[in-house]
Amino acid sequence: MHIVFAASECVPFSKTGGLADVVGALPPALAALGHRVTVYLPLYRQTKLADPKPVLQSVTVPFDDRYRFCSVVDGGMHSGVQFYFIDYPPFFDREALYGTSVGDYRDNAERFALYSRAVLEACKIQGVPDVFHCHDWQSALVPVLLRSIYAEDPAFRDVACVFTIHNMGYQGLFPPEILPLLMLPWDLFTITRMEFYGNVNFLKGALVFSDFVTTVSRKYSQEIQTAEYGFGLEGVLHGRAATVTGILNGVDYKEWSPEVDKFTAAHFSPNDLSGKAACKQDLLTQFGITNANLKLPVIGIVSRFAAQKGFDLISQVMDRLAREEMIVVALGAGDKEYQDMFLRLHKQYPQKIAVKVAYDNALAHKIEAGSDMFLMPSRYEPCGLNQIYSLKYGTVPVVRATGGLDDTIENWDPRSGRGTGFKFSEYTGEALLDTMKLALKAYQDREAWQKLMRNGMNKDFSWNASAREYVRVYERARQLRTINAA
Ligand code: ADP
Ligand code: GLC
Repeated sequence: MHIVFAASECVPFSKTGGLADVVGALPPALAALGHRVTVYLPLYRQTKLADPKPVLQSVTVPFDDRYRFCSVVDGGMHSGVQFYFIDYPPFFDREALYGTSVGDYRDNAERFALYSRAVLEACKIQGVPDVFHCHDWQSALVPVLLRSIYAEDPAFRDVACVFTIHNMGYQGLFPPEILPLLMLPWDLFTITRMEFYGNVNFLKGALVFSDFVTTVSRKYSQEIQTAEYGFGLEGVLHGRAATVTGILNGVDYKEWSPEVDKFTAAHFSPNDLSGKAACKQDLLTQFGITNANLKLPVIGIVSRFAAQKGFDLISQVMDRLAREEMIVVALGAGDKEYQDMFLRLHKQYPQKIAVKVAYDNALAHKIEAGSDMFLMPSRYEPCGLNQIYSLKYGTVPVVRATGGLDDTIENWDPRSGRGTGFKFSEYTGEALLDTMKLALKAYQDREAWQKLMRNGMNKDFSWNASAREYVRVYERARQLRTINAA
């Protein structure tokens, strides 16, 4: 099968969050199963290509005010996967991918509409796939275009489209005038298509027009069909529940494993945990915490600073948590509110709570390796990768039981010696605090704690099984397309 991935970020070329990890790792896993996989990405200022070769000099994308001409750059084959980049500097040669701390770029609709249309035009020349696999609102116009203005195009009539929701909280909402500007027909502006409370909703368009919809954990696929987690689109999903499924993200253990990690002070494994102490010492030094008692548990946080991640709970209980014997190290960037919160806490408890406001991949690895626990109290979490990385590093996750966090972490039961972490259900500061205290108490029993660490380290969340599930979904989508196209 030939599968074309359309997504807005991908490791190692561009990244703001877990989407990039997934788009970096799933295509090679599919290629290893014998499929042909091509990935199309925007060419951002941040994207560094070793040997870029322009392959299409001029692809025309019509907008109502004028035509725009972009080019396509060949990024080469990596791990059996072909990469192409849509190059249009006025849109993508910018400081950030989607916006700055001031807010989203105002022309995001135009930016990702140009990208989506250029992908279709490029495929016509470089190879029409059997299946498009699109991700999140930035590539949501691919299915919309396929079934609207490209619907009569024989090149695409039989091509299936699978859409993966990585996060319902980001939908791509724009005023109605965007439709004529993007030369999309007004008949898309109805409640059964893209209209959403008076605006145009890109994500809704993808949920309506894709042959199959997936999301990144089983639990989240159920949650988003409810009002609490559906962000207003629960009805759309519920209406097509037979063609919605959850496939858990895998992780790339070549990048995220304590046995081979390029960024950590030492290596370790379930059979020999001794290297973890050196990682912990190095981590504390990185955060400027000197003379700390290495017996104190270190709690790590690596996150986008966004409301999704449950920082309001941390803010509610941090003063009480700070009375406990522990150290918190946090790495993150995003909403100013949460940056300020951590900076304030650091001022108050300089030897107990340390923060680095930055995007820093090497430090993210050091936190996974050097911490004793990893805190992720998310309000909602489609899958979550950091808690899965933590398991591999013997860094015990403390999480809220939602979405992928619930699917990947099993509660520790000291009596049976089973379980991989600590989880709480209620979204309250009290529940978080009680669970943290339970974890801190469990940490005192060194022998039991090592068992808990090893339980997590021995889990396998590699991509192989999930990649096979995607192949089954692609096949199902192709069958459905044959029926839909007839
Ligand atoms: P999300 O995609 O919602 O941000 P995930 O847990 O799926 O959450 O993935 C987050 C990814 O982004 C992980 O690979 C994590 O290490 C990385 N990450 C998040 N924030 C930072 C940061 N400030 N510096 C470095 N890496 C980060
Ligand atoms: C999203 C989600 C996260 C998920 C990631 C990759 O950004 O917030 O939970 O792991 O996408 O699918």
